[in-house]
Amino acid sequence: MECKVLLLTFFIITSFNLSKAQMVPAMFLFGDSLVDVGNNNYLKLSIAKADLPYYGIDLPNQKANGRFTNGMNAADFLAEKLGLPTAPPYLFLVDESNENNNVSFLNGVNFASGGARIWGGKNHPLSQSIHLTQQLDYFSIVYKDLYKQLGSSGAKNHLSQSIFTFVIGSNDIFRYFESSDLQNKTTSLQYVDSMVLSIKAILKRLYGFAARKFVIAGIGSIGCCPARRRVTKNEECHEEINFWSDKYNKGLISMLQELKSVLKGINYSYFDTYKALFDLVQRPAAYGFVEVKAACCGLGTLNAEIFCLPIAEYCSNRSDYVFFDKVHPTEAAHRILVDRMFDGSLQYAFPMNVKQLIAI
Ligand SMILES: *[C@@H]1O[C@H](CO)[C@@H](O)[C@H](O)[C@H]1NC(C)=O
Ligand SMILES: *[C@@H]1O[C@H](CO)[C@@H](O)[C@H](O)[C@H]1NC(C)=O
Ligand SMILES: *[C@@H]1O[C@H](CO)[C@@H](O)[C@H](O)[C@H]1NC(C)=O
Ligand SMILES: *[C@@H]1O[C@H](CO)[C@@H](O)[C@H](O)[C@H]1NC(C)=O
Repeated sequence: MECKVLLLTFFIITSFNLSKAQMVPAMFLFGDSLVDVGNNNYLKLSIAKADLPYYGIDLPNQKANGRFTNGMNAADFLAEKLGLPTAPPYLFLVDESNENNNVSFLNGVNFASGGARIWGGKNHPLSQSIHLTQQLDYFSIVYKDLYKQLGSSGAKNHLSQSIFTFVIGSNDIFRYFESSDLQNKTTSLQYVDSMVLSIKAILKRLYGFAARKFVIAGIGSIGCCPARRRVTKNEECHEEINFWSDKYNKGLISMLQELKSVLKGINYSYFDTYKALFDLVQRPAAYGFVEVKAACCGLGTLNAEIFCLPIAEYCSNRSDYVFFDKVHPTEAAHRILVDRMFDGSLQYAFPMNVKQLIAI
């Protein structure tokens, strides 16, 4: 009994020392397939998974592991910049069949899920995802655990220095333009406004859990992905989808400015994914890319008629392509986006970049 208490105390003291030595004790990540590192593999019926070839083809073992790209994604690169291991998927950490899982939430957790929306209700089981509200519910379980491990002030201290990253929203926009029912019920403006309001409520909830440092990525110029170009004239970017993505981003930016004055002591970095991705699309050669319209892996027009599945065809040099499949960037594109996010100029990351945010 006494021994256990001692051990526990020892553990708490060492983890305190650890978090003091590190500039960022942990990163907690919320989002969609752009930053999913394997959560969806644990959703039993869902087919929204990257668990088959040729996903992961450029990983060391060439095996699909839940990342929706050819190699590593933004979650990995951002963790690397912060000097942290990639935060493990939440559903991996709590999976009971997983014998060697020593549940530790201390260095962060990844809640991101392919297909996730800000404004998600129930999906058909086959396209099940963990939507943002559910991701927050999972975080509240993690919070209780940290509170138990570190105590009240310990947990507060830990979390207030941690980074809370959001990469989400694209699926909300895609869904709106795919659903005539939604379009009949709400105008595009009402729709993007409710997306902003939902994410605002989520940020407030996290503030209640002691989160103080946020990294919020806007939606990319997703009208330029192969899946949307395929349905436009001359394979151009889909203007309407880009327009409403940008509109949402503008709402997000002003909401964040307002929130900063309401929630005492928060700091954030907004990342202009729209501009950063558009740069690659407009001036591919400047960034070492050759192909911006077609996906590397898929079938049909622009390789955008199916996802990257075992029956698909794929390109030999993935780093020539901005898009790996019909909606997801290649590892090469992810890497460039995270470089910008981490220490890009004010044009890309404001009011500060991630490097400046972690230095506070
Ligand atoms: C799990 O944690 C316990 C206690 O911290 C440790 O003794 C054990 O070696 C760990 N197991 C693995 C597989 O990491
Ligand atoms: C939406 O409205 C259009 C035009 O009024 C109509 O043709 C369509 O059936 C409606 N869609 C749904 C799902 O109600
Ligand atoms: C971070 O937020 C605090 C509290 O709102 C503010 O006083 C400080 O100036 C911010 N830091 C930077 C670098 O903007
Ligand atoms: C692959 O593409 C990159 C970027 O265009 C280029 O630097 C590299 O030489 C190519 N590699 C091969 C094997 O063609």
